[in-house]
Amino acid sequence: YVNICMPEPCCNSKLNMILLPGLSFLSCFFFIVCFSFFYFKFFNGFSDYPDLRKHNNCMASALSPAVYARLRDKVTPNNWTLDQCIQTGVDNPGHPFIKTVGCVAGDEESYEVFAELFDPIIKDRHNGYDPKIMIHPTDLDASKITQGMFDENYVLSSRVRTGRSIRGLSLPPACSRAERREVERVVVMALAGLKDDLSGRYYSLGDMTEKEQQQLIDDHFLFDKPVSPLLTCAFMARDWPDARGIWHNNEKTFLIWINEEDHTRVISMEKGGNMKRVFERFCRGLKQVEHLIQERGWEFMWNEHLGYILTCPSNLGTGLRAGVHVRLPKLSKDSRFPKILDNLRLQKRGTGGVDTAATGDTFDISNLDRLGKSEVELVQLVIDGVNYLIDCEKKLEKGQDIKVPAPISQFRK
Ligand SMILES: *[C@@H]1O[C@H](CO)[C@@H](O)[C@H](O)[C@H]1NC(C)=O
Repeated sequence: YVNICMPEPCCNSKLNMILLPGLSFLSCFFFIVCFSFFYFKFFNGFSDYPDLRKHNNCMASALSPAVYARLRDKVTPNNWTLDQCIQTGVDNPGHPFIKTVGCVAGDEESYEVFAELFDPIIKDRHNGYDPKIMIHPTDLDASKITQGMFDENYVLSSRVRTGRSIRGLSLPPACSRAERREVERVVVMALAGLKDDLSGRYYSLGDMTEKEQQQLIDDHFLFDKPVSPLLTCAFMARDWPDARGIWHNNEKTFLIWINEEDHTRVISMEKGGNMKRVFERFCRGLKQVEHLIQERGWEFMWNEHLGYILTCPSNLGTGLRAGVHVRLPKLSKDSRFPKILDNLRLQKRGTGGVDTAATGDTFDISNLDRLGKSEVELVQLVIDGVNYLIDCEKKLEKGQDIKVPAPISQFRK
């Protein structure tokens, strides 16, 4: 028979008997090298690409197969990977109504090393803020606030919170036990230096007595082990409750959570409507804590494009949420209520927390934006906005008509 691939005459030549196997060995070798290179460099990236077809989160919108392939093998100096950043968004396709973020940072450098993914997520989540070119303003001068006292017939409590991360230590999704304990040590040591109305004490989640625990529950200060898959899939419940705890001042108006979703969450609050005083204490406390950690050679994660760096991209910038619990029985039943909130750049939550429905007539109203405006601007916006809502409520009580205000823009002109 005739072998069409290798005609007879060739095989008869002695030279070819030696040359051909050598050549095929060489080409085989060449092929394997090329294939492996291609496989590891490109194909493997694509074949590892997560199935995001049913997902409603910012990560899924931003992560194309090409971006994934380019970033898949990169690591931050702490060896944190893209796959670790996005795991929570892959495992949690998202809420049908609430578009979640779908990724977390493991360290400060995540935002640089994986910028090709994080930048569009930040732009999406922060209503067009472009971290490549825009500069985020910081302003913690509470004396600039005007009209900070609400009508207490409507406003029941006032609160301002943010987060801060300690530069040089991995964030909660990525930190080792030692790093987590170091965060606790550095922050608790700084807090011990607070004086006068800010002096207080630390309650470690692992060490507190039954009585202390009950007191913190009654005060609504205690945070629980994260059970939400959004958090557990971001590796934030590891080693619970190791190195977690709550610090508060004796007056229970200044509170710091340690190693929950961020290294620290800083909260200033009180009953009633004195938002100016709440914000004044917030700024003073934050500056003192910063000063106290700097004395020991530490600093907060911050840069001019992203502001204060936190675990979730949604909290970048100021990380600030200034909110009130406000009674709006009439306005909340008016069909224009959502539009009014939108135009004032406010958001509404139930009084129980992020995912809860509003209880009755009382709403948790806070600023919509975190990035692109300063702390002072955001708090002023909440003050002006909530005063507008209360005016509307009073008008409706008297049977008068209300107006939808013109939309406020997010960024400085
Ligand atoms: C990161 O991984 C490399 C290679 O495995 C290792 O040499 C290095 O020590 C790791 N770095 C850290 C901070 O763990």
